[in-house]
Parts: sequence; structure tokens; C-alpha cells
Amino acid sequence: MSKKYRVGIVGATGAVGQELLELLISRNFPMQSLTLLASSRSAGKKIQHAGVEYIVEETKPECFDNLDIAIFSAGGTPSKIFVPEAAKRGCIAIDNSSAFRMDPNVPLIVPEVNPQAIKNHKNIIANPNCTTAISLMALCPLHKEFGLKRFFAATYQAVSGTGVAAMQELEDQMKAIANGEEPKVEVYPYQIAYNVLPHVDVFQDNGYTKEELKMLNETRKILEAPYIMNSTTCVRVPVMRAHSVAINAEFEKPVSVERAREVISAFSGAELIDDIENKKYPMPLFCQRKEKCAVGRIRKDLVFENGLSFWVAGDQLWKGAALNAVQIAELIAQTEADA
Ligand code: A2P
Repeated sequence: MSKKYRVGIVGATGAVGQELLELLISRNFPMQSLTLLASSRSAGKKIQHAGVEYIVEETKPECFDNLDIAIFSAGGTPSKIFVPEAAKRGCIAIDNSSAFRMDPNVPLIVPEVNPQAIKNHKNIIANPNCTTAISLMALCPLHKEFGLKRFFAATYQAVSGTGVAAMQELEDQMKAIANGEEPKVEVYPYQIAYNVLPHVDVFQDNGYTKEELKMLNETRKILEAPYIMNSTTCVRVPVMRAHSVAINAEFEKPVSVERAREVISAFSGAELIDDIENKKYPMPLFCQRKEKCAVGRIRKDLVFENGLSFWVAGDQLWKGAALNAVQIAELIAQTEADA
């Protein structure tokens, strides 16, 4: 009989945590038990899903003694404390924070792109940044075909990336404005409704934000291509849960739009939506709760010689976070079954 896992979700009350619960069950991950963990604020809280009632527990180091796999989506500070505790106790930690992504001893995995990296894990596996994971659903097949050299990107990032409080704030601001009231601004430095903020994550000394540098560093690590150059501008937009990215990429080899469409169509993580005559292109509204990321507007770049310009959109809470993490758990189960 195949192994069943004792699974924990750390950050189970959060935006990604709720999707993890749903996806672990809807994708029939082989579970012996499912433990929901959050902060002390949520201890004892009841969560109903698919007719089952779960009681949330406070995250403590001992929790990991009885777990085989724990998926973390509680932010960097809890991850820095509890991920090493889990690993030490023999529990494999799949971490959605940025805390361990660039650690050379920690594989950073997108299962469609670098499943082979799982072999070297030491009980900690990092889940990539949402924008990077979604962009890779177009960049990876194109890289394999044409050899990616460098790319520029501009992102259009949904509020779900900031968590439940930000999703609620966008909804509340829209309602307040519709009612002629002053919108409350708490999560972001400025109003997000009817606005865009060229500011995602913390500013660094070089003027980029941390989020913008994740695109460069994580793409290099996942594609095992440290020579790739990238410059990204990350922008928060008043969209609920799917990110979009505009990319201009230069390749080693000559490119063709037809071949680009073919390799994207054949890639398991992507769906080609590219029919401008019929006004068909990817849009975040229609990527919500979709497993595949949509790729379209593919055209020869007017600046780069072997260049392509294209547009990718994907569900931030799914491929950008919870789905990729569950796919990593599935990869662990598959790898252990094959061993
Ligand atoms: P809680 O609801 O108890 O605060 P989001 O990203 O949507 O804001 O969700 C963050 C998640 O991380 C929530 O489930 C939150 O739990 C959880 N969390 C925050 N701080 C901690 C902590 N110190 N230990 C465990 N979970 C935490």
C-alpha cells in the first residue's frame, strides 16, 4: 500500500493556508492526518472544509514531532523559527516564505521546471516567489527551446500576495468609495482601490525592491542558469488574486512566434491564449482558481534581436503559492514511492 502522510499547514487561517487545505483535499494528496497550525491568536478556532471540522492549534516546535510534511505559509519570521525545528524533528518543511530560498543547501522547486532538485533536500524545500513561479510558466519552455539570455519584466500583482488583510482592504475600499465614504488605508502605504503602487516588498540600497530582485535570483537558481540577466519593476494593482507579468526576453538562438506558441502549448504548466484577431489573451480575472498559467500576446520583440515579448497571467494563491507547494508535496510522495 502506498504511504500516507501526516501533513501540517502552518498559517492555515491565512489566504494561502485556506487554499492549501482545499488543494490537499481536492487533489487527493495521500494523507493519514491533516493538522492546521497558526499563531496563538487562532488556537481553538474551528475551520470547516468539505464536511470536516478542523480545530486550529498554536504552532510550537513539538507540533512537528508528529508530522511527516509541513507546508509553511505564515511569513518569514515564523518560518525562520519553525522550519529548522521541523527539519530537525524529521518533518519535511515546504516553505513558502523567502527565508531559505537562496540557501545553497535548500532546493527551490517548481515541479514542472526542476523536479530533479528534490533529490538533494535536507528536510527543507523552498517554494518560489509567486511572480517568479508564474513567469517561469512561460520562460521555462522558451528557455529550453531558445536559451534565455536576459529579460525585462513589469508585473501587475494582485493584493492576495499581501494576505487576507489586503484582500479585505481592497474590498472595503471599493465599498467605501461606492458609498461616498473615505476609504481606510491600513495595509499599503496608499489607497489600492482605483490606484497602482510601484512598490512591492521592501526597497533595497540599489533602488530596487526585494520582490524585484527575487525575480532575478530565483529565476537563475530554478533554471540553473546564473548568467541570466533581468531587470523587473513590480507593481501592485487592485486585482484580487491573479498576477500578470509583461516580459521582453532575449534568447541565444533565433526565435519564431510559431515555435514559441508550440513549446508553450506543450508545457504542462501553461495554457496558450493567443488569438488577437478574436481578442483572446490572458487576463487575471479569468485565471482565478486555474491550475495552469495563461500565456499570450506573443510577438517578436522590436528591440532585442532574438527577442520575444509576451504576457503571462496566473493565480497568485495557486501556482504562485499553494498549488506549487502541494505539487512539491506530491513530488516528495512520488520520489519516496519510486525509491
Ligand atoms: P493567525 O491567523 O493566527 O494570525 P496571511 O498571509 O493571509 O495574512 O496569513 C498569515 C498566516 O500566518 C495566518 O494563518 C497567521 O495566523 C499565520 N501566522 C502569523 N504569525 C504566526 C506565527 N508566529 N506562528 C504561526 N502562524 C503565524
